Amino acid sequence: MEHEAQRAKRTTSRRSFLRTSVAVGAATTISSGLLTTAVPAFARASGTSSSGLTKGDVAILRFLAAAEIIESDLWQQYNELGGIQDKEVPGGSGSAIYTRHLLKLDTDMSQYIHDNTEDEISHFTFIDAYLKSQGADPVNLDHFRHLPSSKATGAQQIGRLTNLMQLTVDTSWWTRYRSRTENPDLGDTFAQAVPGLSKGQFPAIPRSDDDLEPRDHIQAIANTAGFHFGFIEQGGSSLYPSLAQRVTNPEVLRILLSIGPTETSHFQTWHDKAGNAPSLTDPKSGLVFPNLNAAPFGGQDFQTNLIMPEPTVFLNRKFPPVSIIRPTQTEGAAMGAVKALTDDGLFIGQSPEFLALLNDLAQQADAAVRGA
Ligand SMILES: [Fe+2]
Repeated sequence: MEHEAQRAKRTTSRRSFLRTSVAVGAATTISSGLLTTAVPAFARASGTSSSGLTKGDVAILRFLAAAEIIESDLWQQYNELGGIQDKEVPGGSGSAIYTRHLLKLDTDMSQYIHDNTEDEISHFTFIDAYLKSQGADPVNLDHFRHLPSSKATGAQQIGRLTNLMQLTVDTSWWTRYRSRTENPDLGDTFAQAVPGLSKGQFPAIPRSDDDLEPRDHIQAIANTAGFHFGFIEQGGSSLYPSLAQRVTNPEVLRILLSIGPTETSHFQTWHDKAGNAPSLTDPKSGLVFPNLNAAPFGGQDFQTNLIMPEPTVFLNRKFPPVSIIRPTQTEGAAMGAVKALTDDGLFIGQSPEFLALLNDLAQQADAAVRGA
């Protein structure tokens, strides 16, 4: 853990040295914005390690390990309160009322939450073990686990990497996967399925037992989780194919091509379940979950059973529509993922060092060049 913090500081001081006009000291004084303008000197260097991995391959795997650790941390919090706590995914003892309201989205929600959590843990554990086997540094973010846990009965009281209690959930993935004529890679933007969730800050887990009533309040929290699940997993669905385009080593490519589609199988499940979120208005926050099958929603862009990726434009509008993952643009994909997770509110309360490290890992991944 300390290892990562030291790495962040080391990288920072190297940059400070390189950019002598900028007086920068410890990582604590650095904003992530400063770091986004710099490309690490060693990331630009080409060549392969003794293991056959390029620096770019290692950078991509290290960023993905960090992303998977972050995913595991948030899924763990969901599992403690709304999943199944067992030897595969230990920790917590469940919140019966929160769980009951999650089950409104599907009677198998607890099992799916458990399995998604286990999958993410396996992803980062595997990638870290693979990095080690290749003589590369694994990623460990334990040093940054200091965000508070939910105080609701059922949650462990331990430090967390992510904050699920102040989310601003981008629900445009809903309409993006329904559009037949638009693609984010061609510059198109998409309407929100739940406009209220994309503004303001909302809990996706009960913050304390006070959040367990009234009924429509805890249902709104469960609904928020339901849409957040889809947001997280569609992000992974895009991230892997986006970064795979920069991988050089065939085995690393195989890893990305084998893990990435499991994110998509998660997404497909959550896409289906989010459509079952009961329409309501949260009496405490005023957050509205609309009926997506009725006016002014409904139709091609909102109908809840249109969960298969609709064929749309790809590469160039001159080609016939095709059913695809979207976006898959490779340029800046890792930084795009960091921005999406940051905008989501997941890192509210996190330290500048954490954000600096995450930005650093993303920049190195984005600097990877296929074949270089
Ligand atoms: Fe994953």
